[in-house]
Amino acid sequence: MSDHELRVSKIRNGTVIDHVSGGHALNVLSILGIDGSEGLGVSVVMNVPSDRLGRKDVVKVEDRELSQSEVDVISLIAPEATINIIREFEVVQKNRVDRPETVVGLLSCPNRNCITNENEPVETNFTVVDDDVRCTYCSTIIRDSLADHIDPE
Ligand code: CTP
Ligand code: ZN
Repeated sequence: MSDHELRVSKIRNGTVIDHVSGGHALNVLSILGIDGSEGLGVSVVMNVPSDRLGRKDVVKVEDRELSQSEVDVISLIAPEATINIIREFEVVQKNRVDRPETVVGLLSCPNRNCITNENEPVETNFTVVDDDVRCTYCSTIIRDSLADHIDPE
């Protein structure tokens, strides 16, 4: 990319989530539990042209790396995303996301009567089958936006 096309600066250390489906950057931030109050340096680019995706979002988070379960949930809303780990301005690791078979923790079940909503010491557990994200305990499928079912830590 030439300099006049570069929309936000490179970062020194942290994570760049690139090739996010256009319009989903804020959902990525909510998966990561980032709302700005934690004071991390965050850059968001939305709906910029992409050869592969038509349009894409990019999220850059300084001084933060992602857990595997966070990457798993990101893969469900942004299957083409690449996760770039940056150290001293260099991309030291680049990974495509993989759709997980299960998502443990992080998502909450929409069924109010589900055991995972009963204040029992039971972690949420969802099974991913094709496009369905289904509660392993009560079989309820999350039909609306996954981002609306992210469990605040
Ligand atoms: N990046 C950054 N800060 C750095 C290094 C890279 O913000 N110090 C960003 C780049 O702007 C890009 C992403 O991290 O959005 C990946 O960087 P790089 O691998 O250099 O870019 P590409 O080769 O275009 O990546 P890809 O092949 O995955 O499209
Ligand atoms: Zn359930």
